Amino acid sequence: MDQERYLFVETQGCQMNDSDSEKIAGLLAGHNYMPTADKEKADLIILNTCSVRNKAEHKVYSYLGTLRPYKEKKPELIIGVGGCVAQQKGESLLKRVPYLDIVFGTHNIHKLPELIDNARVRNERASETRFYEGEPEIFLDPVLARPADLGTGKVTGLVTVMLGCDNFCSYCIVPYVRGREISRPSADIIREIEGLVETGVKEVTLIGQNVNSYEGGVGEDTDFPSLLSEINSIDGLKRIRFMTSHPKDLSESLIDSFCSLSKLCEHTHLPVQSGSDIILERMNRGYSRDAYLKKVQALRGKSPEMAITSDIIVGFPGETDADFDDTMDMTERVRYDALFAFKYSPRPETRAAGMTDQVPEDIKERRLTALFDKQREISLEKNREYEGRIVEVLLEGRDPERLSGKSRAFKTVYLKGDERLVGETVMARITKGSANSLTGEII
Ligand code: SAH
Ligand code: SF4
Ligand code: F3S
Repeated sequence: MDQERYLFVETQGCQMNDSDSEKIAGLLAGHNYMPTADKEKADLIILNTCSVRNKAEHKVYSYLGTLRPYKEKKPELIIGVGGCVAQQKGESLLKRVPYLDIVFGTHNIHKLPELIDNARVRNERASETRFYEGEPEIFLDPVLARPADLGTGKVTGLVTVMLGCDNFCSYCIVPYVRGREISRPSADIIREIEGLVETGVKEVTLIGQNVNSYEGGVGEDTDFPSLLSEINSIDGLKRIRFMTSHPKDLSESLIDSFCSLSKLCEHTHLPVQSGSDIILERMNRGYSRDAYLKKVQALRGKSPEMAITSDIIVGFPGETDADFDDTMDMTERVRYDALFAFKYSPRPETRAAGMTDQVPEDIKERRLTALFDKQREISLEKNREYEGRIVEVLLEGRDPERLSGKSRAFKTVYLKGDERLVGETVMARITKGSANSLTGEII
């Protein structure tokens, strides 16, 4: 038997990457690499990268810079870079970083064991970034893909339902680095969730760039609401979430699912990106502000407890003060529960990067601050409305002071109580609402 080796994974970016990192750990555990949180101890360090905004790329190079001393101290250490920057830059990363061993793209996780062996045994440096569209390899077998750290008390799990994106929003690099949309066979999804539930998982988040395009595997005739309904009947599972639903495709039947499926939590992440019709058009989002507001109304009409969160980009090319005012107005009308806002960042290959009317950095900065200030007020007001109310909380962890968990509406809730309650759902009375969380007591 080979001597046991250790793997350290650093993850940047979105839930797709979080999930891929879990898959990497699960896959490599079967190849004698045990996860470690200690970089000093690692025989293999993998950086899973995101390229959605500018800073993300700089972070890759600076992170790799910090790994140099580790390699100098331990020359047999293998360093790999995966994810969206790897997909985008490929070979050129190997050229730029001489102590980097492996580059693997978003469809190439299954190639890792081979790449690692070649690096270890033959000192081979390699880059694999081929897209495996339409080939089964890209969906790792759910059993293999089961996160290596499960069975150690994890309460929530991420489950991929589809890969890639066909929307080509004019600012976004995702379709270029994740490829075309591909849905995963529903039987595999169900099997994976059942496996997760066996290890103690109570809540799953179904992930995909646009889950409403879900259509099942080859030859399957299904859709996302049907998938949700199947998952809702899995014994032992308590909660279902999903991310992300594109506003243009948020269907009536999906909105109805919130009423008919008891496990589906009342939270929709519905990224609006801008409140201005002109900018939405230039972004190629496929909806108007009115159409968006109608969907919000429909969600709240059917499900009054619904929490709605959003992503917004400020300073998209050509965004005027009036366009930005429309965005501010949108946030006030919808009264989001939480908002992720970003300064527009030109991405290679995308259409918006070539637009001539780029917005100066200081204006982007000013708009971002104004938006954050406004949202902070709204979040605080909304969370204060919870004071005195009773909510269901799934307890996910405990720091020395308190238990923490999430309400069905995706609010972080802090409670006093015994560590043994982690993994349970409890009812709690909220005593205090702050901008980012709720505090309460178990009843
Ligand atoms: N599929 C999801 C979003 C994935 S990317 C959706 O359609 O909503 C996550 C977020 O990053 C986006 O919602 C957007 O707000 C932001 N983003 C994407 N490209 C960006 C860019 N070039 N500059 C700034 N923010 C960007
Ligand atoms: Fe990017 Fe648009 Fe696809 Fe979301 S829907 S991943 S923003 S191209
Ligand atoms: Fe980033 Fe890739 Fe996700 S670019 S946001 S890690 S799909």
